[in-house]
Amino acid sequence: MKNKSSTHKRSLGVKYTNSRDLFETGKLSYEWAVRMMKIITKITEKYQRAKPLANFKLGFCLHITKETSVLIMAAKALGAEISICSANPLSVQIDVMEFLRYNEINVFAKKDPSKVEFFESIIHLAKSKPHIITDDGAELHSIVHKRKIKDILGGTEQTTSGIFRILSLESKTGLNYPIIDVNNAKTKHFFDNRYGTGQSTIYGLMKTLGILIAGKIFVVCGYGWVGKGISSCLRGLGARVTITEVDPIKALEAHIDGFDVQRLKDTLPKGDCFITCTGQRDIITKYDFDLLKNGAFLANAGHFDVEIDVAYLYTQDKHPVQPRPYVESFIIKGKKINLIAKGRVINLVGGEGNPSEVMDLSFSNQLLSILYITKNYKNLEKKLHQVPNQIDEKVAQVALSSFGIKIDNLTREQVDYHNKAYVNY
Ligand SMILES: NC(=O)c1ccc[n+]([C@@H]2O[C@H](COP(=O)([O-])OP(=O)(O)OC[C@H]3O[C@@H](n4cnc5c(N)ncnc54)[C@H](O)[C@@H]3O)[C@@H](O)[C@H]2O)c1
Repeated sequence: MKNKSSTHKRSLGVKYTNSRDLFETGKLSYEWAVRMMKIITKITEKYQRAKPLANFKLGFCLHITKETSVLIMAAKALGAEISICSANPLSVQIDVMEFLRYNEINVFAKKDPSKVEFFESIIHLAKSKPHIITDDGAELHSIVHKRKIKDILGGTEQTTSGIFRILSLESKTGLNYPIIDVNNAKTKHFFDNRYGTGQSTIYGLMKTLGILIAGKIFVVCGYGWVGKGISSCLRGLGARVTITEVDPIKALEAHIDGFDVQRLKDTLPKGDCFITCTGQRDIITKYDFDLLKNGAFLANAGHFDVEIDVAYLYTQDKHPVQPRPYVESFIIKGKKINLIAKGRVINLVGGEGNPSEVMDLSFSNQLLSILYITKNYKNLEKKLHQVPNQIDEKVAQVALSSFGIKIDNLTREQVDYHNKAYVNY
């Protein structure tokens, strides 16, 4: 008989065996993504002769996807020595991992690690003493701070939940090095969190469940950047979308955007599928499962697996059936509850992560922020910094030109008019 933890740890994915095949698939995936990632390719072309990252050891804690391999290979082309571990135990694409290993990147990751193995790989990376850290979720930033690992010149952070952690670290103990908030770049969260995660979450749902979206009642918990993207994609596919929120302004925005807004408890008996994306814990708890409709689907698109009380589900049904990859069906008090991807980021675990074009925007911000740190770390205060506006605008300009879009410029008179109006005000 399986115990609770072995059931909890059971692999949900597809099994591969041959590492040569994996490398070939990883290479093809990398080449596919590169073709869509024109901004980072331009940055690489601009700097690869000068090798501005030579003599720098970079440590990345990111989801190991084909888009990540493009960022890693770009940093390598600029001269960096690179180590990478995964930002999530279930988001490792092993063909990409093999491709990176083949290209002499130190990869501290494996498919479906245990919790201990997952944290060990982050600790391994921390011990390799990178000069600059690029993190997604701040696990690595937290570990190097806890272990007081020295000689780190600076870092960057990719996601909203990671920024919450860094702000808390900053207020409690202070930061040991400057960190750039890449999530807050406009060319990051406007597109990656909203359009990218919106689309890839729906892809993850379709791939794992194979159900019709149109006509179903979807409840999206959180109407931030990610929630907006998911809701608008669902609406586009004909779903009936209800939003739950705690922020009155976001709730009002959702209402004026034309969505139904309700308290979570009022939606529980009606919703066909619930998607959490708040960055908060305990959104769907043991008290809520009893009220769910028979056959309801539960998914999470927030960074950490703390939004749905997954542990409680495993205590109530120790042997959930796995009808499809990444789906587990629990029977609780006679009702079926379907959990997707163990409550971990559905778009990365059940899908493939965000589309290459939006990751191009995010990772171009990452690469330019890393270059910015190498030039400015001596003068940067040990605190959380915003991405410089020039970087954000540069990324937008190159993106527009890669899409073949030209825009107007202000005339001299318009600049004067604007400046005067500003001064008079
Ligand atoms: N899956 C991905 O690829 C991906 C991409 C980007 C961000 N993220 C993650 O998604 C999460 C959300 O990111 P975001 O950028 O949208 O953040 P955000 O701060 O813009 O939005 C979060 C929203 O959730 C709301 N909220 C908080 N507690 C709530 C509760 N109890 N009930 C209902 N709503 C609540 C907040 O009021 C806010 O409007 C974070 O964990 C972030 O790290 C995931």
